[in-house]
Amino acid sequence: MPLASASGRCGGVGRILLDESIIHARLDELGRQICSDYADLDLTVVIILKGALMFAADLLRRLDMPVHLDFLRVSSYQGTSSTGDVLFHHARLPNANGRHVLLLDDILDSGRSLHAILHTLRQETQLLSIKTCVLLRKDVPRQHQITADYVGFDIPNEFVVGYGLDYREHFRNLPYVGVYEEPAR
Ligand code: IMP
Ligand code: MG
Repeated sequence: MPLASASGRCGGVGRILLDESIIHARLDELGRQICSDYADLDLTVVIILKGALMFAADLLRRLDMPVHLDFLRVSSYQGTSSTGDVLFHHARLPNANGRHVLLLDDILDSGRSLHAILHTLRQETQLLSIKTCVLLRKDVPRQHQITADYVGFDIPNEFVVGYGLDYREHFRNLPYVGVYEEPAR
């Protein structure tokens, strides 16, 4: 019996990789580090939807400082593999002129999404600085030299779901991160 299942055709969660208490303890540390690094700076946090929604909601509550919030929605995945194309769903880019920007994303996998977002924001806005913060960083070789400035957890190269991450839009609402398991044939 899987821990959580979507439907017979969509598989389930094989095992829990990061439970709620581990995630929250790490967010306490990340929150403290970000507050100290951005003390007295004008910070805009840009949440990459949809995957970073839960991570952002929990991390932001740990930032004891004034922040502006903005959103970007991109996608590059279909099922469990990347399409290679990064699609921007929002025509309007965050207003980051004269601001220090921290991008929050769910996971650094191939790095294509963050690379494209960094490139576009640097080209199109007059920001003061830009850094990246990801909940998860997968252990995979990357085409783009991108590491992320703040990382919640380094994880093995497995397809994971929960805590915002999806498989075909399922499992985002799980409070933990688990390894996706294909349906039995
Ligand atoms: P990229 O390959 O680093 O550009 O990652 C693009 C996006 O793919 C991430 O923001 C996630 O939404 C999605 N993604 C990558 N790996 C996983 C995974 O293991 N589970 C669920 N989504 C993933
Ligand atoms: Mg996704």
